[in-house]
Amino acid sequence: MSTTAAAPALYGGNTNRRVSVRDILQAKERQERWPMLTAYDALTARVFDEAGIPVLLVGDSAAMVVYGYDSTLPVTVDDLLPLTAAVSRATRRALVVADLPFGSYQGSPEQALDAASRFMKEGHAQAVKLEGGHRVAAHVEALVGAGVPVMGHIGLTPQSVNTLGGYRVQGRGEEAGAALLADAKELERAGAFSVVLECVPSELAARVTEQLSIPTVGIGAGPRTDAQVLVWQDMAGLSPHVAKFVKAYADLNETLSTAARTFADEVVQGSFPDADHSYN
Ligand code: KIV
Repeated sequence: MSTTAAAPALYGGNTNRRVSVRDILQAKERQERWPMLTAYDALTARVFDEAGIPVLLVGDSAAMVVYGYDSTLPVTVDDLLPLTAAVSRATRRALVVADLPFGSYQGSPEQALDAASRFMKEGHAQAVKLEGGHRVAAHVEALVGAGVPVMGHIGLTPQSVNTLGGYRVQGRGEEAGAALLADAKELERAGAFSVVLECVPSELAARVTEQLSIPTVGIGAGPRTDAQVLVWQDMAGLSPHVAKFVKAYADLNETLSTAARTFADEVVQGSFPDADHSYN
């Protein structure tokens, strides 16, 4: 009789501890697919944690969906740290990944370690994510060597929007596809525990996924990656403009707008607050 209990599924399996990078790597061995969402505040992070989402990313997309900038470039470590700490405090099971913002790690492996240390110490994240392939391999190696789990991010890397010439599909054509696959392998070799593939052709994403022993996390990369991630405001229908790859699973824009208008109407008419919502 075997004494080894089967590892619980990342999504839908119960554990009363946080998901670890080891769990994530074991899920790849089981060829298990799993979901990841962004989170930036305590209340939504708690909802996603209780829904069983195993990995929550405090993305630098906060620049756009929280801070209202038109790219991810302006956001800083100091902007993202309180959001990361809020998500960490509000969750019990999800692995919390902190995105290293533009300018906080590209300079050197030492700079990357300084930024990552702040996210681990002050934000209580369990891992960090950074953008780039070959050019950040030394950074990934230094972080992993220092005990910081790293999620890579290649394909459309929004922090490089100015060199990419816009938000466009990456890796099309034989040469670009081979370069992307080489970047993914370099991240794996450097010790990354997973890699985000953003806006790449489905066939290429499937090829990368087959050739890596770490999970791929797709966003606009088709159905054959190990995991899928969406920005939660896109997933829930709150974002006004979304990319082709986004599917909205709710219409929060409509729900919130109706709630706000109904509240306003009742205030103007004098029907709120009524006796049920007042003290004697
Ligand atoms: O910042 C972010 O939200 C991201 C995901 C879209 C992968 O990097």
